[in-house]
Amino acid sequence: MRTATPRRYLMCPPAHFRVTYAINPWMDPTKPVDSALALFQWEDLRDRYRALGHTVEILDPEPGLPDMVFAANGATVVDGRVLGARFANPERAAEAPAHLAWFRAHGFTDVQEPEHVNEAEGDFAVTSTWILAGQGFRSSPLAHDEAQEYFGRPVISLELTDPRYYHLDTALTVLDDARDEIMYFPGAFTPGSRAVLSRLFPGALLATADDAAVLGLNAVSDGRHVVLPRAATGLHAPLRDRGFEPVPVDLSELHKAGGSVKCCTMELRPATP
Ligand code: ARG
Repeated sequence: MRTATPRRYLMCPPAHFRVTYAINPWMDPTKPVDSALALFQWEDLRDRYRALGHTVEILDPEPGLPDMVFAANGATVVDGRVLGARFANPERAAEAPAHLAWFRAHGFTDVQEPEHVNEAEGDFAVTSTWILAGQGFRSSPLAHDEAQEYFGRPVISLELTDPRYYHLDTALTVLDDARDEIMYFPGAFTPGSRAVLSRLFPGALLATADDAAVLGLNAVSDGRHVVLPRAATGLHAPLRDRGFEPVPVDLSELHKAGGSVKCCTMELRPATP
C-alpha cells in the first residue's frame, strides 16, 4: 500500500497569465486564452493540494511576467537549501529575483544565486538518491554540476531531444521520491539517456506518446496521490496497478503555454533531521 507524505508547495496565481510570446512549441500568441478560466482551474489545483493535506504557500504574481504561474521554474529547494533559477529566455528572466526575494522573506537562509542557466524544477527532479537533471533546451549542463556541488547530491544528466518536451518535467515524473520510483516517456530522451534511465529505474512506468502529448508526465505525486492532467487517462490503470491513486485536474488554459500540474508547483523540501 502507498503512503502519502504531507508536502509544502509554492504556487503563483495566474493573475497576469497570457500567451504573449512563443518560447516552446505549445505557445501560440494568436490563440485566445480564457484568463478567468485559467485562474479558476489553478484555484482548483491549489484546493486539491490543500484537501490532500498539503501546505500551499503563495508567491505574489507580477505584471509583465505572464509565465510566472509556472512556479516550478523559479528555484529548486532540497534539504531546505535554495538554488535560484537563471532563465534561458529574457522574457522570463525577472522571475528569478522575485523568487529569491520570496525565499529571503520567508526564513530561508541558504539561498544561492546560480551562475549557469537552470530552469529549476522544470529540469531538476529530486528523488532520495538522485537529482535527475534535464538539458538540451533550457538548463545548461554546467548547471548540473553546479546543483551537485551546492546540494551535495549526485546529479544524473539526461538529454532531451523533442522540442515539445523542452523541460524534464514534461517527460518524467517522480512518483515515490523515497523509493526512487518514476514514470517517463522514453521518446523524449536520447538513446544514451534512455539507457541510463532504464539502468537506474528498471521498474519505471513507461508512458505512451499519447499520454506524453497531453502533458501527462507533468504531474505531482505525494507518494500516493498522483495529480495529473485530465486528458492523461492512459496513465490511470498503470498507476493504479502500482498502488497509486490518479487525481485528474483540468488545466486546459495553462496548457496553451506548454505547462500543467508540475509546472505550477514548486516543492519546498525541508531539511532532513
Ligand atoms: N511557457 C513556459 C515556458 O516555456 C512554460 C513553463 C512550464 N514549466 C515547466 N516546469 N515545464 O518557459
